[in-house]
Amino acid sequence: MTSQLALDGAALGHAELLLSGAYAPLTGFMTSAEAASWPAPVTLAAEVAGDQVELTDPEGAPIALMTVEERWDGHIAGPLKALKPLAYGPFQALRRLPADVTLPAGAVAVVAERPLTPADVPDAPLLVIVPIVAGRERLVRAVRDSVDGVACELIALPLPEPALAGVVARNYGADQLVRLAAEDMDRRGLVVFFTGLSGSGKSTVARGLVDRLRERGDRTITMLDGDVVRRLLSKGLTFSREDRDLNIRRIGFVAAEVARHGGLAVCAPIAPYASTRAEVRAMVEAAGGRLMLVHVSTPLEVCEQRDRKGLYAKARAGLIPEFTGISDPYETPTDADLTIDTSTMSEAEAVEVMLTALKTGYDIL
Ligand code: ADX
Repeated sequence: MTSQLALDGAALGHAELLLSGAYAPLTGFMTSAEAASWPAPVTLAAEVAGDQVELTDPEGAPIALMTVEERWDGHIAGPLKALKPLAYGPFQALRRLPADVTLPAGAVAVVAERPLTPADVPDAPLLVIVPIVAGRERLVRAVRDSVDGVACELIALPLPEPALAGVVARNYGADQLVRLAAEDMDRRGLVVFFTGLSGSGKSTVARGLVDRLRERGDRTITMLDGDVVRRLLSKGLTFSREDRDLNIRRIGFVAAEVARHGGLAVCAPIAPYASTRAEVRAMVEAAGGRLMLVHVSTPLEVCEQRDRKGLYAKARAGLIPEFTGISDPYETPTDADLTIDTSTMSEAEAVEVMLTALKTGYDIL
């Protein structure tokens, strides 16, 4: 009798590693004897009948057939037979099998729970293993960017049990294992990048945030406000697309350097173009930092009504060409980490929202 069981989370990750040979010599979910002798459990908790269980991915596509050898403590145990190559989840191109990776002797495996810095690159052949964790896929991109140009093999795996990283590394042919722990993430630099229309409240919220963060005094803070940057760093630049992009790249460059040194940069330009904002994110992550994109989404009508600098009136009168929102585009972010609308909350409230987000999502404060 064959029953069906849909796998999810850690069990699905284990199944992938069992089927790929990454857990060799283990070829199936553990029996009680195996569980006693391995450094960490690879078990499947399930109450299903039958001596054969068809394991499926969460959507029900069959992955493997399991021959049940033992039922113990609410677990089922037994070897797996692949039914089709497991192709579940993101980063397929990086989910390479042990057989697909050839390492020279003496290779070091680095399990990267954070991006690598040049100091992390060993003087030996290098295998970088980045764990794929749901909700933290950005780590994979950040690690990938951090080893751009570095001679290494890069693989991404669901690694549900960190204690088995040594087994996995050996099966990929590495002789040594180094773990770059996620704990270090907290000390990574952070760039808070506000984007939004002129008059949306970016500068005010950024200023309020910086003041509050300065009261804490445990991180160096660099403020890169749009108007301030244009007075020196980007003096002479126009508002053509080319010059705006250059302006944002300059801000991104400085912010990435701040992040590289573990500091906090708060940027508040309009930054109307999505591709340029994406470049900034890549620059910051390549420097080992994190970027929090905050879209200040205050509607154009409200910004125009406020018209703090009288610029909207001039733009409407045709006195300022290429004015964002009036005669020049603003590409609304689809990748914002946070959206704040200062027409529905006060600026003080917006600062509180920012502080909460930094505390819960970024371990700042
Ligand atoms: S960005 O597009 O390059 O990101 P940035 O933030 O540096 O713009 O500068 C925007 C500020 O410059 C606005 O807040 C406004 O005060 C002023 N400004 C002058 N001309 C323009 C324009 N054509 N479009 C937008 N902002 C302008």
